[in-house]
Amino acid sequence: MEKRYLIKEVANKFCISTNKLRFYEKKGLIKPKRDIENNYRYYTESDLIKLQAILLYRLLNMSINDIKNIITDENSSNMLDHFNKQWKAVNDEIHKMSLIRDSLEDIMDAFYDTENINIHKKIHSSIKNMGRIYEVKENWQDRWDFNNWAKTYDKSVKMNTGSNNIYSKYEEILDMVYNIAVKNINEDGKILDIGVGTGNLSKRFLETNYNNIIGLDQSREMLNVAKNKFPKLKLRLGEFLKIPFENNTFDIIVSTYAFHHLNEDEKAIAIREMLRVLKENGKIVIGDLMFENEQSKIEVYKNLSNEQISEIEDEYYSNIELLKKEFNKYNKKFNDYRIDSLIFIIEVE
Ligand SMILES: C[S@@+](CC[C@H](N)C(=O)[O-])C[C@H]1O[C@@H](n2cnc3c(N)ncnc32)[C@H](O)[C@@H]1O
Repeated sequence: MEKRYLIKEVANKFCISTNKLRFYEKKGLIKPKRDIENNYRYYTESDLIKLQAILLYRLLNMSINDIKNIITDENSSNMLDHFNKQWKAVNDEIHKMSLIRDSLEDIMDAFYDTENINIHKKIHSSIKNMGRIYEVKENWQDRWDFNNWAKTYDKSVKMNTGSNNIYSKYEEILDMVYNIAVKNINEDGKILDIGVGTGNLSKRFLETNYNNIIGLDQSREMLNVAKNKFPKLKLRLGEFLKIPFENNTFDIIVSTYAFHHLNEDEKAIAIREMLRVLKENGKIVIGDLMFENEQSKIEVYKNLSNEQISEIEDEYYSNIELLKKEFNKYNKKFNDYRIDSLIFIIEVE
């Protein structure tokens, strides 16, 4: 028989009052059943899992209504999704708070800068900058619906779908990214694969005993496919713009076919984010759709059909010159390798 917990036991387990439990019940967040004989409330394991989430969201100051929306649209058969949602909520909050803290630090530093006489100007510019970054981070959306594509993604790659043949050298590109990444790093190096998708790049690291790798993706369904294919691969829900890890964590960051889902403003913030979680001597290797510069894009377009161009314009192929400029702001060395007219690999260290 399913294990049952009385209200007092539950209150003890979570160090909360029984009143709080009754309050959540009254608000419709949790619905314990009643014993047929004595009519006492009882809670099941799945009630406890729900309660854990309710308490975490309350800690994040979420309203009762918002919590209700999150936990009622939940597919209870996928427990990992349940925790992924909480992971996302916590990381969003951390990112918001550290943006505010950085801005306050920036303002307070200005008080110690004796050369700086216009403190009000500094306050306004810092607040404006914080607001701009916050907006960019919050507004990124998956316009391509990767959740829907996840189950058939590997098949599309094999069939090289799309009008620009972008997958014709897929395996070769993943091999190259892997080879550049592992040059001079030993097997216990910490690696992050951003936009891991179904795990095809991470697979190369796992097969050669680089087991300290984490795959990050904003799509839960992609993560589910990757988990089924590579049960040993550690996976996390998260985005380029809000990488859910501490500063100076990784020796290597790799990514293939993912960076072009960010526009120029978003790319600048993603670069800052990648460098934040990368160790001082770490390396970034990205294989993706790019042009050398604006002029070479015009040249490439001359040989393409309208259909091919509109496929490119639906995404944000990088301009290598701009990427280089952005990385140079952080004094990073930058190399690029051309694979074909649309695909490049960049190496940053
Ligand atoms: C075309 S697939 C590439 C998957 C894999 N890297 C490969 O080479 O086959 C793009 C992947 O990037 C992920 N992605 C797109 N934008 C992202 C973002 N801003 N943050 C994290 N992942 C993102 C998508 O969810 C998708 O899984």
